[in-house]
Amino acid sequence: MQNVKEILQNMTLEEKAAQLVQIPYAHVGREKAIEWAKRGAGSFLHVFGDDARELQKIAVESAAHIPLLFGIDAVHGHCLNRKATVFPTQLSMACSFNPLLVKRMAEAAAKEISADGLHQTFSPVLCLGRDIRWGRVDETFGEDSYLAGELGAAAVQGYQGEDNAADTSVIACAKHYIGYGEATGARDSYDTPITYRKVKDTFLPPFEKAVKAGLASIMTAYGSIDGTPCTSDKKLLKEILKEQLGFDGFVVTDWENVGHLIREQRVAANEKEASRLAIESGNDMMMSAPEFYEAIIELVRGGEVEEKLLDDAVERILNVKMRFGLFANSFKQADEKFLGCEEHLRLNKEIARESTVLLKNNGVLPLNGRKKILVVGPSADDIRCNYGDWTYFSHPLPNYDTKPERPYITFLEGVKELAKEYDCAAEYVKGAEINEAIAGGIATAAKAAEKADVILFACGDNIELAAEGRDRADMRLPEAQRELFGALCKAGKPIVTALICTKPLCAPEIDEGSAAVLTNFNGGMFGGLALAEVIFGAINPCGKLPVSFPYHVGQQPCYYNQLPGWHCRNYVDMPETPLYGFGHGLSYTKFAYSNLAFDEKTLTLRVKVKNTGVRAGKETVQVYFRDLVSSVLTPVKRLIAFRKVQLRAGESRELEFAFTRADFSFVNAREERVTEPGEFEIMVGGSSADGDLIKLNFIIED
Ligand code: BGC
Repeated sequence: MQNVKEILQNMTLEEKAAQLVQIPYAHVGREKAIEWAKRGAGSFLHVFGDDARELQKIAVESAAHIPLLFGIDAVHGHCLNRKATVFPTQLSMACSFNPLLVKRMAEAAAKEISADGLHQTFSPVLCLGRDIRWGRVDETFGEDSYLAGELGAAAVQGYQGEDNAADTSVIACAKHYIGYGEATGARDSYDTPITYRKVKDTFLPPFEKAVKAGLASIMTAYGSIDGTPCTSDKKLLKEILKEQLGFDGFVVTDWENVGHLIREQRVAANEKEASRLAIESGNDMMMSAPEFYEAIIELVRGGEVEEKLLDDAVERILNVKMRFGLFANSFKQADEKFLGCEEHLRLNKEIARESTVLLKNNGVLPLNGRKKILVVGPSADDIRCNYGDWTYFSHPLPNYDTKPERPYITFLEGVKELAKEYDCAAEYVKGAEINEAIAGGIATAAKAAEKADVILFACGDNIELAAEGRDRADMRLPEAQRELFGALCKAGKPIVTALICTKPLCAPEIDEGSAAVLTNFNGGMFGGLALAEVIFGAINPCGKLPVSFPYHVGQQPCYYNQLPGWHCRNYVDMPETPLYGFGHGLSYTKFAYSNLAFDEKTLTLRVKVKNTGVRAGKETVQVYFRDLVSSVLTPVKRLIAFRKVQLRAGESRELEFAFTRADFSFVNAREERVTEPGEFEIMVGGSSADGDLIKLNFIIED
């Protein structure tokens, strides 16, 4: 077999230009797709099974003989295929604080993606979800850079496998590089007023960890940073990513980003200018930009762009194709039996269970001796509310009315199943739609409430109120559901609220009016079942919040790792803290922390954790630090480690965490990552709230 350099030497300019485009199959249609395959296009996206195989055959028989690479948005499982396992969304999975589970999910998803003969997934999302108004917070691992990096690296390892060339390994594509969630006003793809220092300090670390884990492709963000589109930012793509981080995979633009430089962002006047900017800035593959092909050929022929730039980009793409075994086996495909198989369904349940977060409990849970259960709410019996975005009936396939396929278990079904086991009776009244009233809905629910011992209220949003291009300014629970809840409160019965939502909502009235509140966001096929299991006490909850729930949208952003310096530290009409903060999550047992010790020589931390309750449980031990004096403002606390421990009732364990000086670093005004010697504070506990942390100070010597 020829090596990449030899293949490149024999390629014509046209073949090189074609190799750099990723063609959207559904948009161009089969006939045009065939023309592109004959021309030697590098890649297609959103094509499945037989259609993909047909194109591959054409590509390998074409003059260039270069196999195609097929990309797909398998964001939480290969969910654009209706036979596949729909795992919890990234935000949901992040509640598990469990990198191993995320890795296993990615391995399972890779098998299902490969079962369709596809090679690249546009996942994981390593943007931070720090402002809940942004439509895509559900796609992130939450608000914290360290957590996103740990889970992101695990996902990359899971997708790509130890043997990249294996039939079951796929190319991960970390996205969106970079700062996408920070746009002014949380407006999707809008300008982001952050500096490179901030980029390097806060937003780069998750991508850096993904690169260290072997990441083979990365997608640029739609937005711009302080006026420069990420797609045309040479410093971001060439200097920081390729040179400083040593990224050796390929950079793919987001959908039509080359065209966006002309039409949306207006930094280029025409296709030629935009194509020149894109290639010169360091993009290697242009997604949904067929116009790039002709433009770049003309530019090279006219001496306006050096052919060497194309060579570098083609080489990166071919290297990845070689590394993932596409030259050796262009039709590589995993067994179709993996799609939605039993093993993946079992894993799916395990993740949903570990990702369920108990936010409030005044003692009503686990339900006990309450025989007559009334389930109310629009999210109770519609699995689409648990699935979230990027499935076969949502974005980018606009088929919201499509009937979801079994197997799945809605919250109502889960409650009914468990009610039988616990000898209870469960009745259901919908009461309202997600975003509109139902005639007589409130009256029927209120009447049924009178006879109930406990009300399980399943409420939230759906993908019509979230997702790409669907930012919100009002983050409250929609009015129809607020009214329904108000009516239920009047019945005076204990209410347990299951928040089935894409991302946090501002619902202090739910907290106030409910005896208990729990969530697993979009928990996938078994998200509803896991909520029901927690309610009945069949499982002990152990999820923790990867993102804060504000009281009010005006508090945005209210992530935990704020900078110091806010005069008075709160609004005159609102607390400074969120309703439920980062890392928060209750259990049916209690954990006590003691014996905190820090060895300044070895930078080793020791702490004792004890399960002081009467039930076995899992705790996520969280370690935060603060640099007490630094040359630029640094956060009041930063997560630097976490570990999940399982403890029997009464059991205790000594944990040890070993750090390096680099763990206590930040990026200074010269854009250098440094650890400045001096006094630090270390904090350990079960959430980021001050009251949940034990602390001590230590010194890092010069
Ligand atoms: C999204 C990406 C996605 C791509 C391909 C874009 O609109 O921003 O996240 O991978 O489309 O579907």
